Amino acid sequence: MLARDHWYIACPSLKLAERKPLAAQFGDLQVVVFRGKNGEPHALLDRCCHRGVKLSRGRVSENGCIACGYHGWEYDAQGNVQHIPSLGDGKMRSKFQVPSFHVRETHHYVWVWIPGESEAPTYEPELRGFAPGTWIQFSGIWKCNVSAAVENQLDTAHPVFSHPTTYPTFETDRELNPELFLSTWRGHVEDGNKVEIYFLPTDGTPVQRPTIENPGSNITAFEMPYRNYVFLTSANVRAIYNWIPLSEDTGRLEYMSLSWPPKGPGDFKVRIWDEELEILAQDRVLLESAQGTYNPSRDKHVPADRPPLAARQIIHHAHQLAAAPPKDQEFEFEVYA
Ligand code: FES
Ligand SMILES: [Fe+2]
Repeated sequence: MLARDHWYIACPSLKLAERKPLAAQFGDLQVVVFRGKNGEPHALLDRCCHRGVKLSRGRVSENGCIACGYHGWEYDAQGNVQHIPSLGDGKMRSKFQVPSFHVRETHHYVWVWIPGESEAPTYEPELRGFAPGTWIQFSGIWKCNVSAAVENQLDTAHPVFSHPTTYPTFETDRELNPELFLSTWRGHVEDGNKVEIYFLPTDGTPVQRPTIENPGSNITAFEMPYRNYVFLTSANVRAIYNWIPLSEDTGRLEYMSLSWPPKGPGDFKVRIWDEELEILAQDRVLLESAQGTYNPSRDKHVPADRPPLAARQIIHHAHQLAAAPPKDQEFEFEVYA
C-alpha cells in the first residue's frame, strides 16, 4: 500500500511549531514528529510503550524530550525513556524504548524515512524546480487510491472537462466555448520510476525537451515516491504534488505551488494555505466519486491514457502488483482537448 525505503513528507516545516508535537501517518504507520531543544525535528512511533497512548497528544518538555500526555513518561530523540515521573527522581533504570525514524528538514518540509529493507536512508529527499516568488503549501486528505490521484495529474484529456473555469492556461471560459483543439504530446518513461510529458508545437518547430529544473516549456512529470510536477511555464504555474498513501482508498496530499511572481530578484517566500484550491477540489470530488467501485483492471483505455498507465505500472510494481516496471521508452500521442 505504501512503497517503503523512501522519504515521505510528515508536514510543512512551517506547521511544526516548537514544543508542539504533530501526528503524521504513512500507510498504516503512525508517527509523531516534534522539535528538540535546538529546533531540530525528530520522529518516533506514535505509541507510548507504557499504555499505548499517542505521544502526539503529549507535549515537548524544556529539555527537548517528548512527554506522554497520560503518565508523563519522557522520551528522547532516539525514543529512549529518560524519565518516569511515578518513580520519583533518580530511580530511572529502565531500557524502555519506542522506535525512532530518520528525519530531514529540507525543501520546506519535514521528511521521515520509512524503512523497508534498508533501516538507514539510501538517498536524500529532494524537490526540484523551485523558482523565485511566493509559494503556498496546502495539505489535504483525498478519499481515493493514490494511483488514481497520480494518474490524474498526467491526464491531458481531462482539464477541459474538469476545470473549464480554473485551468491556468485556458484564456477563455471553455465551458462556453467547448471547441476541442488537437495537440501532440511526447513522453518519456525512464529508470522504471519516472514519466515526463510535454506537448509539441503545432507548426512542427523542433522542441528542446524541457526538464523540471529548466522547464523551457510546459512539462508534467511523475516520479516515485508518488510525486507529480505540473509546470505550465506559459502561465507561470509550478505545482508539486506529494502523495502519501494512508490506505488503499485514502491518501494525503502535500501540495506546493508558485502562486505569485517575485517582487524583485531573490524574492522567495513560502506560506501555508489552509483552504483547498478550487482546482484541487474539482479533481478530488471526481476521483472520490470513482473510489466506491475502484477496480483498475476493468478500465478501458485510449491513447491519451498512456502516461497515466505508465505511472500506474510503476506504482503497481512498487506495490508488487506488477512483475516489472515499464521499460524505458519515448512515445507520442495525440489528443483533442
Ligand atoms: S501511557 Fe504514556 S505514560 Fe502511561
Ligand atoms: Fe485536474
